[in-house]
Order: sequence, then structure tokens, then C-alpha cells
Amino acid sequence: MLFDIEPKTRREDLFGRDNEVDSILNFIRGRSRFLAIYGIRRVGKTSVLRVALNEANIPYCYIDARALENDFTKRRFYQLISNCLTELSIKWRLENTIRNIAKIIRGINIFGSGIELNIEVDWRSVYLTDLLNALSKNLDQLVVAIDEAQILRMLKGFGKVDLTQILAYTYDNLSNIKVILTGSEVGVLHDFLGLENPKSPLYGRFIDELTIAPFNKDASIQFLITGFRQYGIEITMNEILDAVDKLNGIVGWLTYYGNAGYAE
Ligand SMILES: Nc1ncnc2c1ncn2[C@@H]1O[C@H](COP(=O)(O)OP(=O)(O)OP(=O)(O)O)[C@@H](O)[C@H]1O
Ligand SMILES: [Mg+2]
Repeated sequence: MLFDIEPKTRREDLFGRDNEVDSILNFIRGRSRFLAIYGIRRVGKTSVLRVALNEANIPYCYIDARALENDFTKRRFYQLISNCLTELSIKWRLENTIRNIAKIIRGINIFGSGIELNIEVDWRSVYLTDLLNALSKNLDQLVVAIDEAQILRMLKGFGKVDLTQILAYTYDNLSNIKVILTGSEVGVLHDFLGLENPKSPLYGRFIDELTIAPFNKDASIQFLITGFRQYGIEITMNEILDAVDKLNGIVGWLTYYGNAGYAE
């Protein structure tokens, strides 16, 4: 349903973003290595990304950097990596692959099995480039998707994690791993990656870019009409135009508006 407030994961719930989803799918299936998805807050970045990841049928790791909750320690970041590996194993039935990797890399600990599986990557002993290397060797393809990636710049510091180095290493050496980053603070993500900054490890690398734009007026109107129709709710054109004028084509706000409307 269009007015569900969680990020969408299926194309049938996603309004008017076929081109965006298709360009992510083309990226995943094509030769490019890195993709940055830009867009202002609430414009629908996560939804577009999740729908594409679900359709691509290629093992992926999804990390929402906001889950660090401002705990910018290596330890916390490794917890997110651990969750990611656990999900990768369960969802893509890669438990055996991950078990093989754990035999080679000391510090990857596996508890339980099947859907009870729990993987722990020890932040004190495992190098992420080793882990990525092992994943690259043992999988045909892998997509690493990091939502709100600009937050990870905060991890940098002595004894912590410099993600741009890890990304540059991945870019140069692990051709079957693709990376997708999203950022709502467009300039911040851009500066963090430093593609044009000679001091950045990623300097001079080429990255595909996709910008998620707000809906235009027509699309906003259609979005509300279609959404209300799904709930069988009558709403006047005046009400719709009034909302559309106020909400500037930001899908997140249109969704809230519709959701409040049908909850009444
Ligand atoms: N194309 C769409 N069709 C229907 N609903 C959508 C669409 N895009 C986004 N939404 C809805 O709008 C809201 C915001 O979407 P989403 O979380 O994907 O945006 P975002 O850009 O990632 O936001 P944030 O900047 O807060 O992370 C969610 O409620 C989501 O369900
Ligand atoms: Mg988001």
C-alpha cells in the first residue's frame, strides 16, 4: 500500500520510481563498481534501494549507518557487520560459505545454526579487507549497500575504521563486490568519499551517481489519488491540490499525509 510508512521493499508498493529502480538494477548487473544515491531527506532513497536489492537476486549486505546511534566505535561498527553476515547467511543460505570463511579468518565466531545462526566478527582481531577478500573469493557476487553512508566518516580516527581506505581497496581489488552508498547530506557524502581530493584514498575513482528527485506536481497528485483509492477513500481535488502545494513533492511527507487521512 502506498501510504505504509516503512520504507518500501516491493515494487508494487513503490510509486513512480521504475526508472530509478531500473538504473540501480542496471548498475548491479553491469560493469560499474560503485554507486552513490543522493537525495534530500524523505525523498525515497531507502525505498528505491531496498526494492532494487530485493529484485536483483544477488546476495547483499544492507547496513543502515544510523544504527550506530552515534556510537562511533570500531566495536559498534563491527556489530553491524556481524548482523550483516548473519543476515547474509540466513537469507541467502550461505551458512556453509561463511563457516568456511570462519575457518580461515580467526575472530569470526559462529553460534547456533539455521535460523538461530549468530555470527560475531571480533573487532579486535579481524581486518575488514581480509573479510571482504574472503567473501569475494567464496561468492560469485556480492553487493554491499550502506544507507546514510556519510555517517561513517565519524568512525575515522586512531584505532578506529577508515572506511574510505577499505572502499578504495575494494574498488581496486575485489571486482565482484559492488558498493552502493546513499546519502541525504549530499555534500557531506561527496566530501567524505573525496573522489576529487588527492588526499582521499578514493581519489580519482569513478563512481556512478543517481539522484532521487522530489515528485513533480502531477506525480504528487497521482500519488495521493492512487493511495487514497487503495483505501477506498473519497477526497476532493481541492484537498489534494492543497496538500500537494504544501508538501513540495517529498514522498515521505505525502505518505504521512495520506496515512493520517486514512487512519481517521
Ligand atoms: N516511490 C514511493 N512510493 C510510495 N511510498 C514511498 C515512495 N518513496 C518513499 N515512500 C515512502 O516515503 C517515506 C520515506 O521513504 P524513504 O525512507 O525511502 O526515504 P529516504 O529518502 O530514505 O528518507 P530518510 O532521508 O529519512 O532516510 C516512507 O514512508 C516510504 O514508505
Ligand atoms: Mg533512508
